Amino acid sequence: MTKKIRILGISGSLREGSFNTYALNAAKKLCPESAEIEIFSIAGFPEFIQGQDEDPPEIVTKFKEAIRSADAVLVSSPEYNYSVPGVLKNAIDWASRPYGDSAWEGKTAAIMGASPGAIGTARMQYHLRQIMVFLDMHPINKPEVMINNCAEKFDESGELIHEGTQKIIRMMLEALIEHAKRFA
Ligand code: FNR
Repeated sequence: MTKKIRILGISGSLREGSFNTYALNAAKKLCPESAEIEIFSIAGFPEFIQGQDEDPPEIVTKFKEAIRSADAVLVSSPEYNYSVPGVLKNAIDWASRPYGDSAWEGKTAAIMGASPGAIGTARMQYHLRQIMVFLDMHPINKPEVMINNCAEKFDESGELIHEGTQKIIRMMLEALIEHAKRFA
């Protein structure tokens, strides 16, 4: 039996009832057999302060271990003020330090996002891609998963009910799995 590709899912929203966390849960269900998705919650991270990164809190150590043991990461995040939410950026910064010990380096990735707005987190996604350049990560380019008008695409229990979105998430996961295999 071939080993499954391990994908670490990270939601950029800590909100109860978050559409982005719902989208990650949907990805878990839609994931092809050849891979598995484990979700890591970034709740409870202290604010990053340079100089304190040499002796990080336990949650950061666990986060870095989880990133390192995964073959790829999948970020599902809201767009806040046209960019990456602070809690997500804070967690990214923690895992990138101390200098020379970034957990992100060389990691394959995929990005998706849900928004009640019309362009489904596009601006956040391009800022996150820019961050991934500095982190030396390898995000897939396509398909892009921008879930606009998101309230219409999930039911009241948080289930993804929009077939087109299910299809594109599945296609993104297939592309991510192939990408991760190439970089393995
Ligand atoms: C938002 N929201 C938002 N939406 C968007 O499409 N572009 C944006 O720039 C912003 N900016 C923004 C800033 C702040 C501080 C908040 C709290 C919200 C709305 C946002 O997309 C909406 O609240 C989503 O539902 C958040 O995602 P979760 O929590 O449902 O995953």
